[in-house]
Amino acid sequence: MAASPVSVSWVKQPYTSCRPSASSSSSSSLLTEYSSSCSALGNPCRKKKQQQPNINITSCSLQTTPPPPSASASASFHFPKQSLPTLIDQPVPSTSTPPLTTPSPSPRPRPCPRKQNKEFSTHQQQSQWDWNPLQRAAALALDAVEAAIASHEKKHPLPKTTDPRVQIAGNFAPVPEQPPCHSLPVTGKIPGCIQGVYVRNGANPLHQPAGGHHLFDGDGMIHAVRFQGDGSSSYTCRFTETHRMVQERALGRPVFPKAIGELHGNSGIARLLLFYARGLLGLLDHTHGIGVANAGLVYFNNRLLAMSEDDLPYHVLVTPLGDLTTVGRYDFNGQLNSTMIAHPKIDPVSQELFALSYDVVKKPYLKYFRFSPDGNKSQDVEIPLCMPTMIHDFAITERFVVIPDQQVVFNLVELIRGGSPVIYDKKKMSRFGILDKNATDAKGIRWIDAPDCFCFHVWNAWEEPESEEVVVVGSCMTPPDSIFNESDENLKSVLSEIRLSLRTGESTRRPIICESEQVNLEAGMVNRNMLGRKTRYAYLALAEPWPKVSGFAKVDLSTGEVWKYTYGEERYGGEPLFLPRSRPEELSDQDDEEDEGHILAFVHDEKEWRSELRIVNARTLELEASIELPSRVPYGFHGTFIGAQELRRQA
Ligand SMILES: [Fe+2]
Repeated sequence: MAASPVSVSWVKQPYTSCRPSASSSSSSSLLTEYSSSCSALGNPCRKKKQQQPNINITSCSLQTTPPPPSASASASFHFPKQSLPTLIDQPVPSTSTPPLTTPSPSPRPRPCPRKQNKEFSTHQQQSQWDWNPLQRAAALALDAVEAAIASHEKKHPLPKTTDPRVQIAGNFAPVPEQPPCHSLPVTGKIPGCIQGVYVRNGANPLHQPAGGHHLFDGDGMIHAVRFQGDGSSSYTCRFTETHRMVQERALGRPVFPKAIGELHGNSGIARLLLFYARGLLGLLDHTHGIGVANAGLVYFNNRLLAMSEDDLPYHVLVTPLGDLTTVGRYDFNGQLNSTMIAHPKIDPVSQELFALSYDVVKKPYLKYFRFSPDGNKSQDVEIPLCMPTMIHDFAITERFVVIPDQQVVFNLVELIRGGSPVIYDKKKMSRFGILDKNATDAKGIRWIDAPDCFCFHVWNAWEEPESEEVVVVGSCMTPPDSIFNESDENLKSVLSEIRLSLRTGESTRRPIICESEQVNLEAGMVNRNMLGRKTRYAYLALAEPWPKVSGFAKVDLSTGEVWKYTYGEERYGGEPLFLPRSRPEELSDQDDEEDEGHILAFVHDEKEWRSELRIVNARTLELEASIELPSRVPYGFHGTFIGAQELRRQA
């Protein structure tokens, strides 16, 4: 069934926070997807008075633009105009993906008052208009250098892993912000127990990449669906306003290096030098972090934190009307002075938060720390590693933290040699470190080798006292660096059980699913009310055809039995979120089964070019509700759910 060729439009009401973007000048691309109008021409926009007094809320109609000629082969980009040429302006060297279109600039809607700390608001105001004549001259000279670098880069074809025409094509392409839209159409019935907000992070580059770009390099954007508990829901998406993004927005183009996409070889070094030169001259400020906050989300100590592992977290507020606003870079009241990985763990019993920090340049390459439920940080525990290692995720048990030290490492010498600094070190032995959660130093860490094991994500871990084993459940990926470096070998992501014996110091590893049913399983989770304890089920994305996600699987971790829920023809999603029926604080009153709850998943129809949020009963895998969304939701990364009570306690 084809979509009707109509554009999105919605009515703006007094005091509404639902604002359209500027109209588009192009009709040949998906720019029209966002060329909304405030007129109600032929549009069934509805104004609905919500329960809050004196506030009018806009209800958005849910029509889409026509799908692209080939959604899978085309891309809809919504970048503001920028002065320097970009790689995207060049013809595509291969036949894989057509060139991207450049839209007209559109004003950013800023409907919400923003609560900001002083440091944050100061940097937000920086722009080239504040530069003195010397800085302007230096900026011109450095721009010429950058143009020369870009010209040099264009002579060499990019690998698919850093080619923006591949990395952010189709529904991986960015979208503009979407102010809150309320009273979304629902098919089915939203379960009454779902009250609060589902938030999911993702990469959404504000500007066209000037050079190489990896999917992970994009600016952080959070998509949020708010559930009132009365069957109604709202949707918004907002950039997390990192220092980086705010400065680049003021300058009108990207100036911070892309950690994965750009830092390759001599041109990568040149871009780094250019970046630091601009910093020295005061043309940009890199002293308050360079992260994009696009990977993970955690709700801890009454704060929603958006994270990427190259920076501190950013505190994002969910407003009473379901909007999102960045409060600022969050250092836990001055306690955190290093980066923090994007997958911290909250113990469901103690409510402590456990985290790691890794450094790619200087020792200590790895630190472990924890926070009490009210946000007091422990001292850092320096974990001795012989080389800087990518540690994207880890696990907790009741007593331990379980730290993977694997074969994807950082080697800056490779950068000088012309390659990527993120490499697969085949000579290195993969291992897991088991450390007491309350350790104050790393003397007691127990390293257990796990040959050729690379788990980008770890879904859970627990202790089995009878056998003196720590059991780790993760997806073992081969080749280990295939996310970062091009490979002829097809990626495999095998759900595995790894047993670490504290008695013998040895490990065993086995696929959980039998070979005949093997399927790539990636982003997902267990019931987080049981994190660190033995769980029967995991809910994981069916990551096929990679890198798309065609559905999710509910896996019995003890038997290997698999139940699949697929999204349908040409429909894809991302991480399935398992929302337990009861919040941790309610568990004492109820006796829920482990799989009692719902799966929430954003799904995009690449044929109809529409996005929806599906709510699936986790026990029966029956669809209970589908919420039509007012704009496209790109495929993204990780999410969490904040209950209504928790929202009311936000700091
Ligand atoms: Fe992740």
